[in-house]
Amino acid sequence: LSTKVGLTVNGARHELRLDPRTTLLDCLREHLALTGTKKGCDHGQCGACTVHVDGRRVNACLVLAATLEDREVTTVEGLAGDGQLHPVQAAFLEQDAYQCGYCTAGQIMSAVALLGEPCGESDADVREAMSGNLCRCGAYKNILAAVRQARR
Ligand code: FES
Repeated sequence: LSTKVGLTVNGARHELRLDPRTTLLDCLREHLALTGTKKGCDHGQCGACTVHVDGRRVNACLVLAATLEDREVTTVEGLAGDGQLHPVQAAFLEQDAYQCGYCTAGQIMSAVALLGEPCGESDADVREAMSGNLCRCGAYKNILAAVRQARR
C-alpha cells in the first residue's frame, strides 16, 4: 500500500511514495534521512519530535506526511543559514541548555516558534509555553535561560 506524497522540507521539494499511514516523523527520519528530529514517545507526549509546519510547531509523530502536500515543513536541520546558527541555537549553546541532548532539537524548534507567539514575560509564562517539551535530564533551568536570552 503506497501513495504519492509531495513534501517541502527546509525549502526542498521531495516526491515520495509512502504508506499513507506514515507519520511526518517517520517520513523525515526514515525516508529523508533528517534524523535531527527525534522520536521519544511517538504519542504526542514528549515534544522530542517538534518541527514547524507553516511556521507553527507541531508534534511530527501526530501528523500524517500525506496531509502536508501544500505546507512548508521546517526541521532543526533547516534553522541555521549561511553558516550562522539561529539565535535560539546560539542561546542554547551559550546557556548550556542540554545534557544528553535527545530533547534539544524539539526544545529549540519549540523555542523558535515561541518567538512568534504571544507569550508573557514571566518565567512561569515561558515554562507554560514550553511545557510540551519534556527533558528527562531536568535541564529546565538552563533551557529557560536560553529561551529567555533568545527572546530578549
Ligand atoms: Fe512525538 Fe514524543 S515523539 S511527542
